[in-house]
Amino acid sequence: MSARRRVGVLISGRGSNLQALIDAAQTPDYPAEIVLVISNEPHVQGLVRAEEAGIPTRTINHRDYPSLEAFEVALNDALERSRVELLCNAGFMRLLTEGFVSCWLDRHLNIHPSLLPAFKGLDTHARVLASGARITGCTVHFVRAAMDDGPIIAQAAVPVLTGDTEAALAARVLAAEHHLYPHALRLVASGQAQACGDLVDGLPKGPGEPALFSPPLRGNF
Ligand code: GRF
Repeated sequence: MSARRRVGVLISGRGSNLQALIDAAQTPDYPAEIVLVISNEPHVQGLVRAEEAGIPTRTINHRDYPSLEAFEVALNDALERSRVELLCNAGFMRLLTEGFVSCWLDRHLNIHPSLLPAFKGLDTHARVLASGARITGCTVHFVRAAMDDGPIIAQAAVPVLTGDTEAALAARVLAAEHHLYPHALRLVASGQAQACGDLVDGLPKGPGEPALFSPPLRGNF
C-alpha cells in the first residue's frame, strides 16, 4: 500500500467526529493517519481522546493572539512542523481567513450537520425542525472562505421524525456523521475524490455511488 496521507485535525470541543476518524485510521488499509490534533479551546474532551490514542496534540488558544491572522500563523506553523498534508475540521468553531483557506485549498475538509447548501451556520437542528423539513443529514465538503461552503465530497440523509426534539435529531445526525467523515476522508486521502472547481471529481457514477452515503441507521429510529 502507498504511504498514508498525514492528516491534522482541528477541534474545539467534544471530538466525537475526531474519535470516528481515529478509529477509522486504526484500520490497516485506511489511507490516512492522524499525526496532529489542534484545539483552539484548552482542556476539551477531544484533546483527551487524541492523547489516549497516542496522537500528538497542541492547544492554540485564539485568545492568546492579537489577530486572527496571527492565530493562523501559529496554526500553520504547527501543521507544517508535523508535515500535515490534509486538514480536517471536526467541530472546529472558528472562521478562518481567505489567506489560510487558500493556503489549504482542496486539502481542507469540514463536516456540517445538514444537507448543504441548506441550513448553513449554527443552531442547525432547531432551524431544521422549525422549517418542517422531513429529511436532513450531514455533509463533508472541501473548505472555502464562506461559512459551510465548498465542493461537496459526501452526504448522508437522515429522517426528521414526528415529535423530534433538537437533541434527538442532533443525536441521529451525529451517528450518521461518525460514518460519513471516515468515508469522505478515505475518498480524498486515497485520491479517489478531488476538488475540481466548485465540484468534486473522480467519484464513480451510478449504483453504489459513494458520495451518497446511507449509514446503517435502522436501529436508531
Ligand atoms: C458536529 O455536529 C459537527 O458536524 C459540527 O460540530 C459538531 C461537533 O461535534 N461542525 P464533535 O466535537 O465532533 O463531537
